Amino acid sequence: MSDRFPHVFSPFRIGGFDVRNRLVALPAGTSLVERGIPTHGDVEHFERLAAGGVGMIVAGATVVHPTSALRSGKLVEGYLDEVVPAIAAKAAVVHRHGSRLVGQLCHLGREFIGGESDEAPMAPSALKTPRDAYPPHELSVREIDAIVEGWRVATENLVKAGLDGVEIHAAHGYLPAQFMSPLTNRRTDSFGGSFDNRMRFLHLVIDAMCSVIPDGFALGVRLSGEEEIPGGMDIEDCVRIADDLAALGVVDYFSITHGTRGKYVKDSTGPDAVAVPSASRVRAVTGVATLVGQRIRDVGTAEHVLKAGHADLVGMARALIADPDLPVKSETGRLDEVRGCLGINQDCRAFDPHLHCAVNAEVGRGRHPGVGVRVDRPKEVYVIGGGPAGLEAARVSAERGHRVTLFESNTSLGGSVRVAAAAPHRATLVDIVDYLERETRRLKVEVNLGAEISADDLAEIQGLADHVVLATGSKVAPLPDPLRSRGAVTVDDVLLGAISPDPGHAVVYDEADGFWPAYSAAEALAQRGWQVTFATGLTGLAPRVPHESVGPLLQRLGSAGVGLHVAHTLVVPEDAASPVVLRPVFGGPELPVEPGLLVWHQPRVGEDALRRATAPSDSLTAIGDCVTPRRISHAIAEGYRLGATV
Ligand SMILES: Cc1cc2nc3c(=O)[nH]c(=O)nc-3n(C[C@H](O)[C@H](O)[C@H](O)COP(=O)(O)O)c2cc1C
Ligand code: SF4
Repeated sequence: MSDRFPHVFSPFRIGGFDVRNRLVALPAGTSLVERGIPTHGDVEHFERLAAGGVGMIVAGATVVHPTSALRSGKLVEGYLDEVVPAIAAKAAVVHRHGSRLVGQLCHLGREFIGGESDEAPMAPSALKTPRDAYPPHELSVREIDAIVEGWRVATENLVKAGLDGVEIHAAHGYLPAQFMSPLTNRRTDSFGGSFDNRMRFLHLVIDAMCSVIPDGFALGVRLSGEEEIPGGMDIEDCVRIADDLAALGVVDYFSITHGTRGKYVKDSTGPDAVAVPSASRVRAVTGVATLVGQRIRDVGTAEHVLKAGHADLVGMARALIADPDLPVKSETGRLDEVRGCLGINQDCRAFDPHLHCAVNAEVGRGRHPGVGVRVDRPKEVYVIGGGPAGLEAARVSAERGHRVTLFESNTSLGGSVRVAAAAPHRATLVDIVDYLERETRRLKVEVNLGAEISADDLAEIQGLADHVVLATGSKVAPLPDPLRSRGAVTVDDVLLGAISPDPGHAVVYDEADGFWPAYSAAEALAQRGWQVTFATGLTGLAPRVPHESVGPLLQRLGSAGVGLHVAHTLVVPEDAASPVVLRPVFGGPELPVEPGLLVWHQPRVGEDALRRATAPSDSLTAIGDCVTPRRISHAIAEGYRLGATV
């Protein structure tokens, strides 16, 4: 038992096995899957998680029947015989590192998590989900029997693969939940109507699974404490369902989170640990071991949840993607070394084409062979620029034993991340800068703040360095003349407060990208009392904001009274006497607008003066936004690659 977090780092018995601590990696599909079979990259991902000290891992969803397979083949297909060796390989690496592995079995029913299927969608009733294009057909009893049989076959395969248990995905509005909820189940046969009838499908599934589950193999059930949709199931329904299942005497644990598809991976705009009260109720009523997760990002919170008796196990999905070593670092008192999850879902939920992480470049790529190995001959590495790219390059090269000196022209580190973090609900962005700053201190990187490097300085540095890294970031491009003459400002001006304190009418125009900046400016202005009109020439709102954040963002803008116009360009005539208008992209009448404040968002440009002033050389590399402005994940990935190879 650890002195630091005694409840977290104490063992626990589930079913017939012990877990070494109470931390669980929640199911997080990696899409490192080809034609329904996990790839070597998936096995590596699981090995990395287990090596970081987590007690138990629940693998991401494995579908139980071809009617729930994705056309892309990116979901594991548990009914295939060929899946067994790949899952067995995952079990072997997880066990080798002292952790436990549970498989999660799922049928999506009418929901297709944004992918397409070759099969017609099917559900208890022919009611279309608001999230997919096609209505499902009503499952026949014969089809229900085939899916239940799929659950049995897939369970048998998990047993053959040597897993420690299986979890039924009965949460988040997928098939079992579609049967349980009166909102989606309007059947009039023995599978619909009364509570007992709506539970029948899950009972059949559990019976089929129990027919092949050996002694000691754990059975878990994942439930949504609150579905968080109008007319959806709430905590009272959840407790009733859990109580009914507990009475079967075969369930070893419940896993409780909130939400349905689109709402269960909550971004940083919501509160932390939202599902804890629901888990606490389920545990108290059923007496069954309870696992709770959702926006629990640190071991201190986990300790509190366990100590207060709200749950027996605490789950984390994204916190362990961002830093799989979070358990071992926390247990050994190295909390400062934990790389926090930003909670912005920018990369982990994009599946482009598989799991990535904004702050952890190893996710989806594996560890670079150069990382974690001390170099024989340390080099003098000079890094110009202290944004995420430069800091990550400094961190990784210093960890390998190089001597690193970093120059940053500002008086603080972080570059443009600090500006983005000044936006409403985006403050967690700065966590990555804070982490990298702590790491540079730990690794004894010499950091020079307020150090503007000229071309002459660079030439001098090149004389001292074995390798120079240019990571000078990006800047706001100058606004075109007609805009400047009307006093237009940039998103950075708004976020940094360089505008009038007296609110009036503001027009925010997103010329650029459909990403956060212009929306953040609109939100910041609305919060400060401005009446805001937002326009974009794109045909959709916030198309590049992660999909789980778009709904909450637009809801906040809508309730703040921000007027939203898509497919309109903002026309600002050179002649200052002519009115500013919103012009429909596809024709129609123009709308005159009279902004007291005009906020124009255009693409940033690379801060590349030093790069252009320097002759190309094998001992000089430019990385991150100074090459061309992009996202944090690109900066981190390039910094990591440079650090791993220098
Ligand atoms: C990349 C990713 C994939 C996920 N895949 C699954 C899944 O296959 N099955 C599931 O039940 N939940 C899945 N989830 C949801 C997580 O299990 C978890 O409930 C959610 O992320 C909230 O926990 P967190 O705040 O610790 O990330 C996924 C989450 C992420 C980030
Ligand atoms: S991509 Fe962002 S939200 Fe997802 S795990 Fe990484 S840091 Fe967390």
